[in-house]
Amino acid sequence: MNKQINIKESLDWYILAGVTETCAEGVCLLNTENHFAQPKTVTKTATVSTSPTSAVLKNARDVCASATSLDELRDILMKFDGCNLKNTAASTVFGDGDSHAKVMLIGEAPGADEDRMGKPFVGRCGKLLDKMLAAIQLKRENCYITNVLPWRPPGNRTPTDDEIAICLPFLKKQIDLIKPDFILLLGGIALKAVMDNPDSISRTRGKWLDYVTDNKNIPVLATYHPSYLLRSSAQKAKSWADFLRLKKKMDEIK
Ligand code: URA
Repeated sequence: MNKQINIKESLDWYILAGVTETCAEGVCLLNTENHFAQPKTVTKTATVSTSPTSAVLKNARDVCASATSLDELRDILMKFDGCNLKNTAASTVFGDGDSHAKVMLIGEAPGADEDRMGKPFVGRCGKLLDKMLAAIQLKRENCYITNVLPWRPPGNRTPTDDEIAICLPFLKKQIDLIKPDFILLLGGIALKAVMDNPDSISRTRGKWLDYVTDNKNIPVLATYHPSYLLRSSAQKAKSWADFLRLKKKMDEIK
């Protein structure tokens, strides 16, 4: 009986920490040898502030400003401890793909598969995204794919405004370094973060916007997130129209 109660308490710990699945068959949540051990991540969370002071934001901006290449930025991100999400994530998922890409795709945050594999859009959403790109003759390796957040929020919960604000300098620096010709925003969180646009994705998708930098205005298109399309396949036609818009604009400037 006692053992059952302890197992339940142990599971509650994991659920509290946002753990929603095991990573491998060898990792068993009911393992009596380690079920008293609290996940390392939970203990660490207590020591890190969850609200971004202006000092944390300034630090994020300063460290990003010092990066002169994507590799440097990745190293800086790996050492950055200002965001609480890092404590519950297994991986820091940096952008992936061609550093000279014409098209940059920006999603929301890594999911369980991405967290496990350390790469953006490699799970079910990624497979759908690959198919959509292929339909307009784009290969993912010729694009640059990243997320607003490099860490998976526990249980895939929606990221808070504070978490987005802390991670935004890392995303904006990636845009500065890649200097893409086009940005495709996948979902409402990417739209809100990159364009500071509070409008709903359903109202804004399909309309060309401008991301203004010091030396270049980059055309931006927002469309539905692939995970939404997996749940609401009736919306796929609208996303398909958005991908065709992107293709048409790319062909125009060839
Ligand atoms: N959803 C995202 O927004 N990004 C990923 O990398 C995977 C799923």
